[in-house]
Amino acid sequence: MEPEAFRAAAHAVVDLMADYLAGVESYPVLPPIEPGSLAPQFPSSAPEDGEPIEAILADYRRLIEPNATHWQHPGFLAYFGTTASGPGILGEMLTAALGQNPMLWRTSPIGTELEQVVVDWLRQGVGLPEGWDGLLTDTASTSSLIALAGARQTAGIDAASEGLSGRDAVPGLRVYASEEAHSSIEKACMTLGLGRSSLVRVPTDDAYAMRTDALTAAIERDRAAGRQPIAIVVTVGTTSSTAIDPVAAVADVAERERVWLHVDSAYAGAVALIPERRAPFAGWERADSIVINPHKWLFTPLDASLLLTRRMPVLREAFSLVPEYLRTLDRETPVRDYNEYTPQLGRRFRALKLWMQLRWFGLEGLRQRIERHLEMAHTFTGWLDADPAWERLAPVPFSTVCFRWVGDRTLDDAVLDERNAAIMDRVNRTGEVFLSHTRLGGRFTIRLAIGNLRTEERHVARAWELLREAAHAG
Ligand SMILES: Cc1ncc(COP(=O)(O)O)c(C=O)c1O
Repeated sequence: MEPEAFRAAAHAVVDLMADYLAGVESYPVLPPIEPGSLAPQFPSSAPEDGEPIEAILADYRRLIEPNATHWQHPGFLAYFGTTASGPGILGEMLTAALGQNPMLWRTSPIGTELEQVVVDWLRQGVGLPEGWDGLLTDTASTSSLIALAGARQTAGIDAASEGLSGRDAVPGLRVYASEEAHSSIEKACMTLGLGRSSLVRVPTDDAYAMRTDALTAAIERDRAAGRQPIAIVVTVGTTSSTAIDPVAAVADVAERERVWLHVDSAYAGAVALIPERRAPFAGWERADSIVINPHKWLFTPLDASLLLTRRMPVLREAFSLVPEYLRTLDRETPVRDYNEYTPQLGRRFRALKLWMQLRWFGLEGLRQRIERHLEMAHTFTGWLDADPAWERLAPVPFSTVCFRWVGDRTLDDAVLDERNAAIMDRVNRTGEVFLSHTRLGGRFTIRLAIGNLRTEERHVARAWELLREAAHAG
């Protein structure tokens, strides 16, 4: 693409983007289409001859944009929201144009050093002391995988070079996380060769938080059976109900047992930007690693996950492998080559969008937006608690509310499960809002999660109205 053709096409694309963002609310959040209906609308093989950009963009308007699930929509109240903010999108555009690969300092000096800068800005922003370092990855799943690889490396069996298979002297390694911990922890155990059976799911209390007594008992049992605990994962803001594990009490256990402590605050970690709201995180500075996802509640376009750690050298032991073709021959002083800390070699220049966003919003701008979301969740909780036909199923420490319709409270759980699934489906079919669900205590639970930059109280009020209408409709 010649520079002038690129310029004209890029302007057209920016117009498309701005129009989309300005009008996103006119789309149904969920496209009203059936699975399998899209692929047949595309040619079954790639064109032999190139096509003009106008034709491609016309098809983008016709086939791509309307068939997206609109995460940018203010009525997106499902899962955990992830908004691609304006400055974040601009950062992505420049990232694509610069085409950096900060795998080595040499292959992207600015990609490498800006990553160090924004990691440190965020470290300070969430109130962690000096001595914490870190890196950016694609997702919390990868961040937790890297953290648990670090934990495995500290087990004294050099799994990075010797592996785990066929080694009689290696005891059963164990990782502890609550019953409510995210599936990414279990996947990390699968991927690291520990196996799903290495993950001990610790029971939770009435608020879905890890029970420290149960954790201690599980570790004792495992030690007595000759197994080796290597890591404990606490979650601040679980995926289902945003429960808060007792970080400080678990940190005591981790220190006593000399095991790696990893804090999964992929969603809620953003709240630590607000100094007055740091109570749920107290003690996390004693952990070995922490994950926070800017692509959840810090309005960064997917993907951006922040892995903070006090143990960078251990991560390097777990992942460093420098073949000849990656050596930088003329280098005297050691520099940070990020690929030595991660499973993959090539890396995206994620720091640019974060740098642009942090400057554009300022920490205070981010805090204000998060506060607004917390307030809206509080307001919705008030409406819910005041209506006897509805039942709240978990505390609301952040911006996610878990609840179900119970009517006159005469129906049994099996019927309520069906009715609530139908209510949620009816609400989602309106296209005005999108809610998702989970199960808490075995019960079908509707979740309303506020995290989208465009969500205002009127959208939350509309969700409440739609829920009550759907319940009345039977
Ligand atoms: C607590 C928690 N941890 C980890 C994840 C996984 O995040 P990712 O999609 O970035 O891997 C999620 C996703 O919602 C989460 O809620």
